[in-house]
Amino acid sequence: MLLKTVLLLALVAQVLVLENGLLRKPPMGWLAWERFRCNIDCDKDPKNCISERLFMEMADRLAQDGWRDLGYVYLNIDDCWIGGRDAKGNLLPDPKRFPHGIAFLADYAHSLGLKLGIYEDLGNFTCMGFPGTTLDKVVQDAQTFAEWKVDMLKLDGCFSTHKERAEGYPKMAAALNATGRPIAFSCSWPAYEGGLPPRVNYSLLADICNLWRNYDDIQDSWQSVLSILDWFVAHQDILQPAAGPGHWNDPDMLLIGNFGLSFEQAQSQMALWTVLAAPLFMSTDLRTISAQNMDILQNPLMIKINQDPLGIQGRRILKEKSFIEVFLRPLANEASALVFFSRRTDMPYHYLCSLGRLNFTRSRVYEAQNVYTGDIIRGLQVTTNFTVTVNPSGVVMWYLYPIKNLGTPQQ
Ligand SMILES: *[C@@H]1O[C@H](CO)[C@@H](O)[C@H](O)[C@H]1NC(C)=O
Ligand SMILES: *[C@@H]1O[C@H](CO)[C@@H](O)[C@H](O)[C@H]1NC(C)=O
Ligand SMILES: *[C@@H]1O[C@H](CO)[C@@H](O)[C@H](O)[C@H]1NC(C)=O
Ligand SMILES: *[C@@H]1O[C@H](CO)[C@@H](O)[C@H](O)[C@H]1NC(C)=O
Ligand SMILES: *[C@@H]1O[C@H](CO)[C@@H](O)[C@H](O)[C@H]1NC(C)=O
Repeated sequence: MLLKTVLLLALVAQVLVLENGLLRKPPMGWLAWERFRCNIDCDKDPKNCISERLFMEMADRLAQDGWRDLGYVYLNIDDCWIGGRDAKGNLLPDPKRFPHGIAFLADYAHSLGLKLGIYEDLGNFTCMGFPGTTLDKVVQDAQTFAEWKVDMLKLDGCFSTHKERAEGYPKMAAALNATGRPIAFSCSWPAYEGGLPPRVNYSLLADICNLWRNYDDIQDSWQSVLSILDWFVAHQDILQPAAGPGHWNDPDMLLIGNFGLSFEQAQSQMALWTVLAAPLFMSTDLRTISAQNMDILQNPLMIKINQDPLGIQGRRILKEKSFIEVFLRPLANEASALVFFSRRTDMPYHYLCSLGRLNFTRSRVYEAQNVYTGDIIRGLQVTTNFTVTVNPSGVVMWYLYPIKNLGTPQQ
């Protein structure tokens, strides 16, 4: 009986995730930080400084270049927008860089079918030293964001204590809810607690946040991508079950279109983030992005997989001595996404595998579509050997789906 009660409570706890109805699929959009940082010198660099001009130009690109229609709808401001507080303590944007204010920018985004995200920091200051949201300002700042018609808040955690974060993040969740405006809530909380239990309670996070940053900020390098990936894989038993519709792990922004990744590495980040059911926040200059990088980011099958309605985060299931790793994400309609990832540094590797090796057991015929080339691989059975050729630091990604049953299951 006690066990039954405990199980029942566990079930109830699982269902009690953040009930603002938002982000049933990982959010997609554009976030300023990784590419544009805290560049606030608009005299020297008017085109790239953190200003309403930058956000309006990115909004135009999102709307006109196919991004919005594929799901990239969030236009998200990061640090360095704040000018101060007025006499009543209300937040104000920098008057020179955001002369029309944030409500104007939200209206502009909405007029283009986009959503506006904003940034604050639970603490004395933002990470770059602008006025933060101290505990006594949480309710007031939530109301300000709602009045401006903001659609998402990323709440960072610089200049705060463990105790202030434990009080402040749930308080902000309640304050956002009390505004009556649906505002997706992105919490940097776990990243400031080492990302792991017992300091991080992932079921509590799912109760109060729609997404959360678990680990370090991404930087524009392959080494940074690998360090984040390695950490997510090392702790996948903890992280994988924490994600689901309405509540996502966030390994941070996509670097694609910037300077640090090769073509293969850009394809790899996109594929790996997609199997991890990660938010797809680009942080690149959409005014100058190349066609090749656009193809990676706008791949319709990739996006369909990322946005799969089951919202199950994938895992690394196999690590070969050959330095090939295989990731799998279960998808709706008994499909799966498979990523064959090479950690090699020599030459394209011909990796021999079978679905049986990946522990598929059912007597079925499968078909796969190569997500990047579009090629169809037919007639795959559990025992069928196949070879994928994976480039150094690259991936081969498959969308795999059953075609027909072959009678009784093998086990
Ligand atoms: C925040 O500011 C208060 C008041 O100046 C100070 O007492 C406190 O130590 C500061 N907290 C942090 C984490 O810096
Ligand atoms: C506030 O929370 C309640 C209860 O979880 C939920 O039904 C409601 O949709 C939330 N409202 C907003 C604006 O998030
Ligand atoms: C984690 O938070 C949940 C509330 O969501 C609570 O029921 C549970 O006791 C917490 N777990 C721990 C270990 O503190
Ligand atoms: C397949 O199952 C075996 C036995 O449960 C397990 O040891 C192995 O790690 C699994 N391999 C994969 C790729 O899931
Ligand atoms: C598949 O490859 C394995 C490993 O090389 C080999 O042992 C097996 O005989 C092959 N199976 C078929 C059907 O070719």
